[in-house]
Amino acid sequence: MLTDAQKARVEELLSQMTIEEKIGQMNQESPSIVGGFSVPFPELIEMLNDGRISQEEFGQIMSTAKRDFHEDDIRAGLVGSMMGDDPVKANELQKIAVEESRLGIPLIMGFDVIHGLRTVYPIAIAEAGSFDTDLFERTARVAAKESRAHGIGWNFAPMLDVARDSRWGRVSEGPGEDPYLASCFACAKIRGLQGDRSSAENYVAACLKHYVAYSACESGRDYNTTSMSISQLHNVYLPPFKAAVEEGALTAMASFNDLNGVPCTVNPYTLRKILKGEYGMPGFVVSDANGIKECVTHGIAEDDMDAGVQAVNAGLDMDMGTHIFKDHLKQAVEEGRVSMEVLDDAVRRILSVKMWLGLFDNPYVSEENIEKYKKLPQEHVEVALEAAKKSIVLLKNEGNVLPLDRKQKISLVGTLAANSEEVIGAWAMSWKREDCVTILDGMKNAGANVTYYACGGPEGEINYDEVKKACEEGDVVVAVVGELVSMSGEASSKAETGMPGRQREMLQAILDSGRPLVTVLMNGRPMALGWEGEHLPVMVEAWHLGIQMGNAVAAVLLGDENPSGRLASSFPYVTGQCPIYYNHPSTGRPGSKSKFTSRYLDAPFKALFPFGYGLSYTTYEYSDMKVQETADALEVSVNVKNTGDRSGTEVVQLYMQDITASLVRPVKELKGFTRVPLAAGEEKTVTLVLAKKDMGFYNNEGEYVLEDGKFNLFVGANSEDCLSEQVTVKF
Ligand code: GLC
Repeated sequence: MLTDAQKARVEELLSQMTIEEKIGQMNQESPSIVGGFSVPFPELIEMLNDGRISQEEFGQIMSTAKRDFHEDDIRAGLVGSMMGDDPVKANELQKIAVEESRLGIPLIMGFDVIHGLRTVYPIAIAEAGSFDTDLFERTARVAAKESRAHGIGWNFAPMLDVARDSRWGRVSEGPGEDPYLASCFACAKIRGLQGDRSSAENYVAACLKHYVAYSACESGRDYNTTSMSISQLHNVYLPPFKAAVEEGALTAMASFNDLNGVPCTVNPYTLRKILKGEYGMPGFVVSDANGIKECVTHGIAEDDMDAGVQAVNAGLDMDMGTHIFKDHLKQAVEEGRVSMEVLDDAVRRILSVKMWLGLFDNPYVSEENIEKYKKLPQEHVEVALEAAKKSIVLLKNEGNVLPLDRKQKISLVGTLAANSEEVIGAWAMSWKREDCVTILDGMKNAGANVTYYACGGPEGEINYDEVKKACEEGDVVVAVVGELVSMSGEASSKAETGMPGRQREMLQAILDSGRPLVTVLMNGRPMALGWEGEHLPVMVEAWHLGIQMGNAVAAVLLGDENPSGRLASSFPYVTGQCPIYYNHPSTGRPGSKSKFTSRYLDAPFKALFPFGYGLSYTTYEYSDMKVQETADALEVSVNVKNTGDRSGTEVVQLYMQDITASLVRPVKELKGFTRVPLAAGEEKTVTLVLAKKDMGFYNNEGEYVLEDGKFNLFVGANSEDCLSEQVTVKF
């Protein structure tokens, strides 16, 4: 990570630091609201939560509030990191840290840049569905460059929570339900964020979150308890973190949840034994917001000091926002509850990441780089458009209604189609309205003959007169329905994940009119779409695609782009099926039509749309699967032919099943994929290689084992439609 000279500089610095300065490096602050209120700020939050003031009134008050940037504490060397995305402010605070504090240690500025900063690209669950690792890297590179130009050297990204339960709102922020796809996503994101060290303007430190198994919260309820076997933890939730550390990831964020009874903020097994020990992550671990303090509420710590002591001893190096390290660690060291070695290790890690970022050589953003992003660089916008197009999934296209013809009169229905805030998705705070393209904008940009009718959306009533008018005046109706951005993301779990509001009734009214209906979904989670799947002839999953959403959706609807996206998460018929995922164990009674099997009385047991699923405007045929064994691998080849009349890109997927093992294994596990462009009529032989070392699993002792035996190999267009071959492997 560092050169010997850099390591020596870190040690030299460490040797000069007082204990207060050491603890200061472990303290992260964000601009805090001060004064200006007739009520204390916490009560203001209460008033918002209980409805005494509206969101608008709260926003009004906040906009006038003074913010404390903790300049005095920075000057005193008591702050190691600040949050923020304003380059001018960042330069001001760095100047204080470097020129006015005793040792001149620069700050590391952190910010949530999950799917872009100014150039916002698709939310992760959508982008993962492109199955395009090169794209994952390029979008992250855009985020890294824009972050540095805003004074941010540290992205709280990638979010790598493998999620199987779409009641959990944060499923939108991560790469879906599969550990292998999530691991490929993770590695590509690390390359994109940290990889281009040719200039300090091109890379940032990544922060793997939320470490770990936060997405396995019971009942899909955010922040809820998680418990699982050690084998489940290692086989499902840890793989993307392990892969990311192997790719060079430098920092991680401990997650809010308790795991098997121990909150991840104070969990020595996950932090010290696994992440820093087995995986060898060289950088530092930051808590999630308020995470240390919440360990008292969890019931694992007597008080703040106890929580701080447990956290730092467990391997947590930086305190996000509670001041517990700042207020209590010195006393803890004096009382012998925390050793100086533990403290020095934490500070050494933090200083090393700052050194790796080049902050000691130059912590400032150049005026030129600030100027550069006053307007988004065209190449960044183009990457966002490419990502948006590749993330769109064609779910149904009965009667080949799509693609539409520009000669058709299109009635575009639904408030989501014209609201630029709704294209962005969760966890994007630095975008500008003028950069956003709604679906209405996009259809107009593409020269479609389109008329917009608001009619209604995820909340409130439907204007049926307007619906009637839209059906009468258009040759075809494109209805944009789904969720508001606020309905997914953090603290947005839902007990009912079907279509919100009265949108279903609106769709039914359009169906009743007899007009051809194209339904475009804008959503952050795999919604329960049983009714839609049964009644709607044409469905396009468009997620929250970021600033270029409108141009991407228009390109697909009008046939300028043949959709190639796939689902990174299974879609249920009904919420009651959650958690639902393709890579499940067989059980002794796999679901079937007969009663005494793993099924429901009142719902299907399969997914409505399975992992890896997505249609195209052309068709593909798979044939002639072959498996070739070599010393270290199984080479699986298959012929894929474009049997339609237009070119397209197929995502060929390779799955494996360990048929008999010392622990029950999933009926399928994704082990490879590749995007294959094919002209109309073209046939290619595609080969995917499965290394034998990757055919194992972790047992309940946390050991990785390879067990001889029979394996099924599958290759196909999604996790259900596959050709298969059985092989016997001796490792
Ligand atoms: C939030 C989120 C985390 C984010 C952090 C800082 O609560 O859990 O993803 O990075 O706080 O904003």
